[in-house]
Amino acid sequence: MVPGFPPSTAPNNVGGSEAQGCNTVAMTDTGPNQQQATYWTQAAGPQWVQQQVMFDQMLTHFGGAALAALAAQPGERVLDIGCGTATTTLAIADAVGPTGWVIGADISTTMIEAARLHAATRPNVSFVVADAQTDRIAPLDDPADAAFSRFGVMFFSDPVAAFTNIAANVRSGGRLAFVCWQHEDKNEWISLPASIMRSFTPEPLLPPNNAPGPFAFHDPERVRSVLTGAGWQTVHIEPFSAPTTMGAGQGLDAAVGQSMNTSPGQALRKQVDDATFARAAEAVRSALSEHMLGGAVTFPGNVWIVTAHR
Ligand SMILES: C[S@@+](CC[C@H](N)C(=O)[O-])C[C@H]1O[C@@H](n2cnc3c(N)ncnc32)[C@H](O)[C@@H]1O
Repeated sequence: MVPGFPPSTAPNNVGGSEAQGCNTVAMTDTGPNQQQATYWTQAAGPQWVQQQVMFDQMLTHFGGAALAALAAQPGERVLDIGCGTATTTLAIADAVGPTGWVIGADISTTMIEAARLHAATRPNVSFVVADAQTDRIAPLDDPADAAFSRFGVMFFSDPVAAFTNIAANVRSGGRLAFVCWQHEDKNEWISLPASIMRSFTPEPLLPPNNAPGPFAFHDPERVRSVLTGAGWQTVHIEPFSAPTTMGAGQGLDAAVGQSMNTSPGQALRKQVDDATFARAAEAVRSALSEHMLGGAVTFPGNVWIVTAHR
């Protein structure tokens, strides 16, 4: 069955539309993560959609490891939390097959619109604009077998509340699998450009430790504490390392473009004028040029693969 989202199961549904097996609902403009909704809809989302090929290539090894940890089976019902443009949603849909379903949930209307286009002809995939911290995602009478995320669960204002809500959307005994970044210092793809960008602004470019942002879950003990506090059991957190490529083989300019669209670049863009931003991009270009490998800028990347059960 492909689940729908009548108002009773999607509190923020203000008029969804259905097409070819997919549906999208719009969310209200209030809520505890409204800042993230605005950021991912108006600032980062459009860039992410435009550079989807680059972000997908960059994240492919990490998403693959998380999907392997999920090990979705034919017939299963899975939630893809913070699904973005649906790359992993579609991979899960392939794994669960026609007797299963996947719901991609994201707080960004920009991301969900792109996801919906990518999945237009898939009968076992649905999408919902939802705050995973507060909104019902799975149908009330049909909880999911598992929840999954590729880098979509580090942005909650209240992570314990969010993982409690995610658990409420998963059946008893169901499972959780996600991938999140280790510390910024273990991820030179962002720490190197960020260190350069910092010389162009006195303002912070990344949120402080543990605040919502790409590195909010860098500390595995915090992740464990959040998940157990939210009622998840048998929490396993494994390190995983793989090359992180930027520019998707399209050369240095593409890598710089992608780098300037990650979180520090998005922050810098708001803090400085265009000329200063251009000078920062030039300095980043020079640093990234030393890491070119086969048409792409390549760094080692380090993440946590996290699994748990309800
Ligand atoms: C780094 S992107 C990852 C997107 C996608 N999972 C991928 O790997 O391509 C993070 C995603 O999490 C979403 N997100 C952030 N906070 C959220 C929330 N509270 N509820 C649902 N989605 C959220 C963002 O809109 C964004 O699409």
